[in-house]
Amino acid sequence: MVSRVVVSSPSTIANLGPGFDVFGLALAEPVDIVEGRISKKRGIRVLNISGVGAEGISRDPKKNAVSIAASSAMELMGRDEGLEFTIKKGIKPGSGIGSSGAGAVAGAVIANELFDGGLPHTQLIEAAAEAEGKIAGSAHYDNVTPALVGGFTIITSIKPLEYVRLEPPRMKIVVAQPAMELPTKLGRQLVPKEVSLHDAVANVGKASAMVAALKSGDLKLFGRCMVDSIAEPVRIPLVPGFHDVKRAALKSGALGAALAGSGPSVFAIADVGSDAEEIAGAMRRAFKRAGVGCETVITTPGLGVRVVAKE
Ligand code: HSE
Repeated sequence: MVSRVVVSSPSTIANLGPGFDVFGLALAEPVDIVEGRISKKRGIRVLNISGVGAEGISRDPKKNAVSIAASSAMELMGRDEGLEFTIKKGIKPGSGIGSSGAGAVAGAVIANELFDGGLPHTQLIEAAAEAEGKIAGSAHYDNVTPALVGGFTIITSIKPLEYVRLEPPRMKIVVAQPAMELPTKLGRQLVPKEVSLHDAVANVGKASAMVAALKSGDLKLFGRCMVDSIAEPVRIPLVPGFHDVKRAALKSGALGAALAGSGPSVFAIADVGSDAEEIAGAMRRAFKRAGVGCETVITTPGLGVRVVAKE
């Protein structure tokens, strides 16, 4: 019988410009490493959280994405054994690259592995999204789906849950994380409830072209279409220097740049042969000009959650 499972759960970028609540991309780095063990004591416990931003994450099992998702998955499997978690955060919470989504996916997958649940992907996504909803205020299928299955995902329906997974072409991705948090809850409150026909048409055109570009490997077209007329315009006033950061990335060779999820991180995509260090440096300097410190991560599209140990 399996008693211990360790998973590596990836960061993700949602929206990617015009795909608000629809597009998601798994990243190779950063990742969270989560360990789950079956315990003789009933109930779910979070024993320890370490790593980036760990001090801001609750160990209360009712307020932690990992434990809530595990509990939802166990409910689906009809299990109520004891479970203990240890979490190593590589993904900075509140930075817009799916920190709570990665935790939620880890929790659901660990429970499924430990109890041999055989839950299908859609149920694991539901369990993770429910947990994310409790932590972040709303469920983000566009973060949890790529965190589970990897690659580029398109949410086509929520009830019932349906998605399409595409294998993205090789590219470099630079994520610039300013030294500030932008709670997703706040980012969502800003998004208009109704949109103009003009903006809807603009987004559909760009999002459609991005999918075509993914299939043909046309990164220039993909990057050029990473422009959102709906959510990004109302969110960027909260991200100091956004326009300058985007401009700096494009001037240094990036093919496109946009807010990562609800922000405040800004990401840029570039050709595999490009100098990602130069793009990263330009983005850091632009944030500095706006008075904000910033860290950058250079990464690529990545796999979904992976079991790295099981015994
Ligand atoms: N689609 C969600 C939003 C993602 O933009 O609010 C949150 O990371």
